[in-house]
Amino acid sequence: EAPEPFHEEVHDPRRRDFINIAAVSFAGVGALAIVLPLINQMNPSADVLAQSTTEIDLSKIAPGQAIKASFRKQPLFVRNLTPKEIAEADAVPLSELRDPQTLEQRTKPGKKNWLITLGVCTHLGCVPLGAGEGENKGPYGGYFCPCHGSAYDTAARIRKGPAPLNLLVPDYKFDSDTTVTVGAAA
Ligand code: FES
Repeated sequence: EAPEPFHEEVHDPRRRDFINIAAVSFAGVGALAIVLPLINQMNPSADVLAQSTTEIDLSKIAPGQAIKASFRKQPLFVRNLTPKEIAEADAVPLSELRDPQTLEQRTKPGKKNWLITLGVCTHLGCVPLGAGEGENKGPYGGYFCPCHGSAYDTAARIRKGPAPLNLLVPDYKFDSDTTVTVGAAA
């Protein structure tokens, strides 16, 4: 049997599709190669959200109170610790902590009463209670996650329950005694 002529093979629709797809993909990769360095240049951290910051007015948060704000679409807790709550946090030996950190390390110098953390449980991401009037602060006086019972202390450090880590402290800086910008490097 004679072999099929060459032009028949080129007109096979499946083969044509393959050639077209290959050409389009190749063009796509080429375009990405040009665009990616531009994106990286505009956004060195490669995190689009790194550009957004949240300003918090601290003047409305009384000692002993914690408020819920939002930062990059996630809940944010801002807490004004009382001297008693600070003393409670300082009294805990680091050896008793699952994720050992002092309150000092979790706050800014001279501003130990201002505790700013994400309101995202480090177990599976529920929003813990305790940053709102009358909310359950849990057995350690900080925050309590109703999903699986993780309890955080007044420095928002994990003390009981399945969460492995303390509530995360985001980058932030004081603009004045009464304003902080969350998401900005200090
Ligand atoms: Fe908070 Fe599980 S998500 S304890």
